[in-house]
Amino acid sequence: MKNPKSPYFLLLLVSLLSFSNATEQRQQQFREAPQFYNSPDCPSISSDDYDDNDDNHVCSDVAIHVAMTLDIVYIRGSLAAVLSVLQHSTCPQNIIFHFVSSASSNSTHLKVTLSHSFPFLKFRVHAFDDSSVSGLISTSIRSALDCPLNYARSYLANILPLCVRRVVYLDSDLVLVDDIAKLAATPLGEDSVLAAPEYCNANFTTYFTPTFWSNPSLSLTLANRKACYFNTGVMVIDLNRWRDGDYTKKIEEWMELQKRMRIYELGSLPPFLLVFAGNIKPVDHRWNQHGLGGDNYRGLCRDLHPGPVSLLHWSGKGKPWVRLDASRPCPLDALWAPYDLLQTPFSLDS
Ligand SMILES: *[C@@H]1O[C@H](CO)[C@@H](O)[C@H](O)[C@H]1NC(C)=O
Ligand SMILES: *[C@@H]1O[C@H](CO)[C@@H](O)[C@H](O)[C@H]1NC(C)=O
Repeated sequence: MKNPKSPYFLLLLVSLLSFSNATEQRQQQFREAPQFYNSPDCPSISSDDYDDNDDNHVCSDVAIHVAMTLDIVYIRGSLAAVLSVLQHSTCPQNIIFHFVSSASSNSTHLKVTLSHSFPFLKFRVHAFDDSSVSGLISTSIRSALDCPLNYARSYLANILPLCVRRVVYLDSDLVLVDDIAKLAATPLGEDSVLAAPEYCNANFTTYFTPTFWSNPSLSLTLANRKACYFNTGVMVIDLNRWRDGDYTKKIEEWMELQKRMRIYELGSLPPFLLVFAGNIKPVDHRWNQHGLGGDNYRGLCRDLHPGPVSLLHWSGKGKPWVRLDASRPCPLDALWAPYDLLQTPFSLDS
């Protein structure tokens, strides 16, 4: 055992750190998470009604479906999110994850990485054909917000198996500290397609361009609706209603219009707002303690919003793993760190 205070150790540490910076993302090594078990009262996902060919019991009525995007850049966040979901779930063995990854990414590598950290996880990796959406993304500046995978959430109804009727969509920069079953059970009422955390004080004016507001046939879309901003990083979606209403097509129509005349600022959110704002069911704000990524302009740390916490969301520019690696964490990044599965080259435990 080396003396952690010796100059040699520090030198080693520094060289390992610079090595890890120089190393490509894909060479990150992740630890194996513990296995999580259903509590005795949980319904069994594998009843006799389902044949064993359905290896993940994906059509079971008791399954809770969670969808996330997955790529090599954000995989550290995704693994932390998965760990947090399992750890706080009463029936973790009934959760089925649907990871949507770019068709051009190495899905074998993603699957291997997932299985290594979660050998017992019920999951599927679904390939998302970026080309289907990249032609629709309007662009002058291609920002991170315009990554095609960001739009995958609009295609879940097509991507997921038809027997999946309800899904919880989650961003990769969040952790849950409560049972996802409660979030998944958010009432959608008689006819709502989705539920999401709504923010009715947000100023809608800024999400759309003057072109949009000055064109009555467009701006009327939002008239007569109590349209509130909502966060698309935490959504509960009724996929059958989505399919019945062909909402993917409706979102695509707005994207096509955006290509012809710029009606909103860049991003995947505005078409969602145009189609759904005012017609969604609210998700309690405890499920989106948002903005922990910090102030987008000055990089300032943010505090929690008043009220209870079931989900911490590092929305915004900063990500906790980046700040932790840089030894410049925000205070609340300490709440993300316990879910980090990265096997750091200098970690002292094995
Ligand atoms: C994809 O990932 C697997 C597993 O990590 C690896 O063996 C394979 O070489 C990769 N394929 C490509 C084309 O990079
Ligand atoms: C919303 O923002 C616009 C433009 O930034 C501004 O003119 C308007 O007064 C704001 N409305 C409210 C209610 O704050």
